[in-house]
Amino acid sequence: MITIDREKPFDNAAIEKLLDVAFGPERFNKSSYSLRENNHPVASLSHVARLGDKLVGTVRFWPIEVRDLLGGAPVPALLLGPLAIAPMVQNQGVGGKLMSTSIAAANAAGHDRILLVGDHAYYSRFGFEPVLPRYITLPGGRDARRLLVRQPATIGSLPSVGKLVVPTPEPALVPAFGAALPDVA
Ligand SMILES: CC(C)(COP(=O)(O)OP(=O)(O)OC[C@H]1O[C@@H](n2cnc3c(N)ncnc32)[C@H](O)[C@@H]1OP(=O)(O)O)[C@@H](O)C(=O)NCCC(=O)NCCS
Repeated sequence: MITIDREKPFDNAAIEKLLDVAFGPERFNKSSYSLRENNHPVASLSHVARLGDKLVGTVRFWPIEVRDLLGGAPVPALLLGPLAIAPMVQNQGVGGKLMSTSIAAANAAGHDRILLVGDHAYYSRFGFEPVLPRYITLPGGRDARRLLVRQPATIGSLPSVGKLVVPTPEPALVPAFGAALPDVA
């Protein structure tokens, strides 16, 4: 049976291996990595899927900020990704379960605005909508055409001219000996 669990520090090597399989060695050149350089995943929100003791899925969240280049106040947000599922269990709903569990955890922790760089055809089912690239830029002018956002209508729309998404690093995942994390079913 596949279970969804909080990411633990000891998962890191298996996650890197899975990301190599899913995206290949070129993955570090992707636009979204410009928001992960010198940044750290949010430990309490990043989740994995396990099949026995094998890690078969991963989704991470990163702290970012949308800065108004015209001088407005920065807006905090989360970057979701990468999301990857081991080929042996793809198309069995594991990606969907990881997405819904981790987004619910993010919302419960007060994070309403989540961005990602990915296929709208897949992520639209979780409420992600395209952000017009001419309204928003990634560090170094990286390609923002696949930038998607999920946010409740009540907090207003994100895009307005001259916004830049930047990483806002938080402390890295560190072993929390003696502090057991509750498992998420
Ligand atoms: C994309 C991925 C995360 C989906 O996870 P999964 O557990 O296989 O997906 P689920 O079982 O939750 O959902 C399967 C559905 O998603 C669809 N789907 C999968 N990848 C898709 C994509 N890139 N675009 C559109 N639809 C996609 C499948 O066709 C299937 O559709 P159906 O429900 O109509 O049959 C997984 O296939 C994966 O890790 N792929 C390689 C890495 C990757 O591309 N990640 C980022 C995606 S932008």
